[in-house]
Amino acid sequence: MDAIRLPGLVDVHVHLREPGYEHKETLRTGTQAALAGGITTVLEMPNTSPPTATLDLLRNKTQRAATSVVCDVGFFLGATRDTDPLATAAAAPHACGLKIYVSETFGSLRLDDLAQLMAFFRAWPGPGPIAVHAEGLTLATCLALAQLYGQRLHVCHVSRRSEIELIRRAKQHGAAVTCEVTPHHLWLCEDDLPRLATRGQMKPPLASAADRAALWAHLDVIDCFATDHAPHSLAEKNSPQSPPGVPGLETMLPLLLTAVYEGRLTLDDIIARLHTNPTRIFHLPISASTWVDVDPHAVYDVPDRGFQTLCDWSPFSGFTVHGAVRQVALRNQIVFADGAVRAAPGCGRVLANL
Ligand code: DOR
Ligand code: ZN
Ligand code: ZN
Repeated sequence: MDAIRLPGLVDVHVHLREPGYEHKETLRTGTQAALAGGITTVLEMPNTSPPTATLDLLRNKTQRAATSVVCDVGFFLGATRDTDPLATAAAAPHACGLKIYVSETFGSLRLDDLAQLMAFFRAWPGPGPIAVHAEGLTLATCLALAQLYGQRLHVCHVSRRSEIELIRRAKQHGAAVTCEVTPHHLWLCEDDLPRLATRGQMKPPLASAADRAALWAHLDVIDCFATDHAPHSLAEKNSPQSPPGVPGLETMLPLLLTAVYEGRLTLDDIIARLHTNPTRIFHLPISASTWVDVDPHAVYDVPDRGFQTLCDWSPFSGFTVHGAVRQVALRNQIVFADGAVRAAPGCGRVLANL
């Protein structure tokens, strides 16, 4: 049967690792992986080295991106212990949002001091939301702070029953909160840990099968699907000190199309969570001449190697998926076709107003 044309798809949670960790991923390889996965815009997280914490560092990142990215990219600013929240606020118009790590993570961006959290929630002027890595009790803290300081809150990678239930409750009470769920928390659970071994290390960790089922049961509360694409080299992942994170850009859309094949999702569910809601929440430009063609009837097994991502592995290797990315166009230019990236470095747009 014919391919299906989807609008430009957005992954609102991606780690591209440049500057500082170019052996894991670069702006170029990460955005190539996005195109191969049918994603035309990625929003990049600030936990690079140095972290994207000031206007100068944001400018440095956008300058690198201007000549290297092959899909559109927006950048989050990061809150750190050492930055003045007012300086962060000054850079806000050029970022897609402010990211605050309140729970344990990779890198040094965790904030666990209430006074500092309050200062960032007080100072952030928008227009992007505050996105939080907040698990368990810290999620309740962030929901309260967002309410008290009148902020829009975006909750990253919800993974547990209690968390999705709390977000449902907050929405019922009119809170300005949105959330995302990753493919790894929808498809994997702690039963997969023996197979994945140290590679299964991630934050939030894989949860129970009951938590995973709760995410599917509360699909209507989930605003976005997002990969939390967190590449680390295979050598790093196979070591006893495996850093947290798994890649996901090249497998999210095939997995979601598989759920459509199985009758667990509709195509409209995917379009809402990878296009309509992300563009609304993060005020992203939409172009009708940016699109993704998928073949919903292609069946294949996720390979072990041969990905565009520099880390070149997947926690989903061996999974049989129903649905493949055939062609991707960015503003009328074919940038991915026949399994190959055809985009010149720099053809992606940097969404930073700088
Ligand atoms: O698994 C994770 N990986 N969780 C995080 O919070 C950070 C991310 C990374 O940057 O590797
Ligand atoms: Zn996180
Ligand atoms: Zn992340």
